[in-house]
Amino acid sequence: MSSTERTSSSLLSIFLATLLTPSSATNRHVITFRSPGLYPEGLTWDPSGHHFLVGSLHSRKIHSISPAGVVQTIISDPYLPENATILGLAVDSNNRRLLAGIHCAPPLPPCSALAAYDLRTGSRRIFLSPLPSLPGDDTVADIANDVAVDHKGNAYVTNSARNFIWKVDRDGVASIFSTSPLFNSHPVAADADASFRDCGLNGIVYNCEGYLLVVQSNTGKMFKVDEESGTARVVLMNRDLVAADGMAARRRRDGGVVVVSREKVWFLESQDSWGEGRVYDEVELDVERFATAVTVTVEGEDRVYVLYGRVMEGIMGSYKDGEVREWFEIEEVLSEREGGDDDKVWVYVLVGFGFGYFCFWRFQMKKLITNMDKKIT
Ligand SMILES: *[C@@H]1O[C@H](CO)[C@@H](O)[C@H](O)[C@H]1NC(C)=O
Repeated sequence: MSSTERTSSSLLSIFLATLLTPSSATNRHVITFRSPGLYPEGLTWDPSGHHFLVGSLHSRKIHSISPAGVVQTIISDPYLPENATILGLAVDSNNRRLLAGIHCAPPLPPCSALAAYDLRTGSRRIFLSPLPSLPGDDTVADIANDVAVDHKGNAYVTNSARNFIWKVDRDGVASIFSTSPLFNSHPVAADADASFRDCGLNGIVYNCEGYLLVVQSNTGKMFKVDEESGTARVVLMNRDLVAADGMAARRRRDGGVVVVSREKVWFLESQDSWGEGRVYDEVELDVERFATAVTVTVEGEDRVYVLYGRVMEGIMGSYKDGEVREWFEIEEVLSEREGGDDDKVWVYVLVGFGFGYFCFWRFQMKKLITNMDKKIT
C-alpha cells in the first residue's frame, strides 16, 4: 500500500465509523451526583427552578439536582417521622408547590401522608395530611407511593398495598377517591418476584382532558380513571407493563407517556385518549442500579430521564461493610424511534461532503504525483 492509499483508507474508516456510531448515544445526558446514603426513590422536574427534585429512603430531606449535578437540600423537615421514606414527588406549577408522598416502612410504626411545600418561600411546609385507611381490614398497612397533580392543585396518590387512590385537595383535605373493583380483578404476573409481587397501583399521571392514568406493578395493567367520578377502565395494550414503577407524561408528544421498571423504559402512545395504548419502543436499563422513577423535562425539547437510586441496596443495607454509597445517577433515555432521524440525516450529509472532499483531494494528489513523475523522468 502506498502512503496515499493508507491515508485514504484510514480516512474512509473514520467516515464509516461516524456513519455507524448511533448519533444519539453520543448526546445522551448523564448526571452523576453525590449525596452519601441518600438512596432516592422519587424524581420529578421543577420547570421554574430548572432542576430535578429527589426524595430519600430514610432521610427527611428533598434535594434539588441541577443538570450539571449540583446538589442542594431544599427541604429538611423535622416534622416528618424519623427515618420516613419520601416516595412520589410532583410539582404543582400553577401554585408553585411541591407535593410529596410519605411512607413509614417497618420497623417504624405505619404512616401514610401527603406533604405540600411552597417552592416560592424557601420551601415552607403548607400541610402534612395523613391519608385515611379503608374502614375494617387493617391487616395490610397502606403504602402512599406515587403522586400526580391536576390544574386546580388537587393531588392524587396511589396506595400500592391496598390498590386504591387517595385525593388531597389544595387545602390538604384528604379522602379516598377511587376504589374501583378493577384494581383487584387481574392476576399477579406469573414471573412477579418478591421485589414487586405485593406492589399494586404505582405510577400515576394527570391528563388535562379530565382523567388519570395509573399503572399496576404486579399485574402490568394500566387504568384510565375519571377525575370526577373515580371510575376506572382498563387501557387495552399490546403488552403488559410487568413491574411498572414510575410514570411520566410527555409534553411535546401529545398525550404520550413513559413508564419505568427496574429493567426498562416503555414509550407509549394512544390514538383515542387511552381507550387503547401502544408500546412503540422500549429501552433496556442497567438492572444493577435499580431505576424506580422517570420524569420529563422541557428545556427547548422534551427529554426523558430515569433515576438510578439503588433503592433495593438501600433497603437491604447491602453496600460495602461500614461504608455508605455516595454517588447516584439521573440519566437521559432516548428512543431510537423518535427524533433521532433528524440527527442521522446530518451524519449522512457530513459523510457525503467528506467523501466528496476526499475524492477531490485524491484527484489533486494524483495530478501532483503524475507531474512530479514527469519532472523526474
Ligand atoms: C432511624 O435510623 C437510625 C439508623 O439506622 C437508627 O439508629 C434509629 O434508631 C432509627 N430511628 C427510628 C425512630 O427508628
